[in-house]
Amino acid sequence: MENGGMFHALLAALLGLGTTLVDPDYTVEPFEAVVVMTPVWMGNPTPAVTTFISNGVLKGKKMFIVAVGGTAANPRAIARLEKWLRARGASVVGHSEVLGYIPDPRAVRPSDEELMTEGVLLAETVRQAFEPQP
Ligand SMILES: Cc1cc2nc3c(=O)[nH]c(=O)nc-3n(C[C@H](O)[C@H](O)[C@H](O)COP(=O)(O)O)c2cc1C
Repeated sequence: MENGGMFHALLAALLGLGTTLVDPDYTVEPFEAVVVMTPVWMGNPTPAVTTFISNGVLKGKKMFIVAVGGTAANPRAIARLEKWLRARGASVVGHSEVLGYIPDPRAVRPSDEELMTEGVLLAETVRQAFEPQP
């Protein structure tokens, strides 16, 4: 993405605006459980996921949020997503915040094994969140 494009994308993220997606697929009708996973930009969800939430038919869906960031906690992004999903008629069964790419060349990168372990743990967290509550 050229610099001007990145500037607009970041501004859109800050303002909670969407963007134009290439060949989007908003099909969620066949699914009862839906996971929304997005990188975090400047504390906010990315415009692409905002567009998905605006266009998908989410009423009655059970949804789980995953925020992927360079820092472990992104409460603002989670709070915004929860608010938008509830406004679209979905219920949010839980959320996770996971470490993604850390944009600092000095950062210690997790190994493939550590990423695999993190992915397995996340999948288990998501599975449990969708289990019926006793
Ligand atoms: C412009 C920009 C802003 C970012 N802002 C945040 C932030 O506010 N909080 C955070 O935890 N990570 C932030 N990050 C880190 C990204 O969320 C992280 O690198 C993520 O893995 C990016 O996912 P992707 O590689 O799929 O785009 C930012 C990254 C970029 C490029």
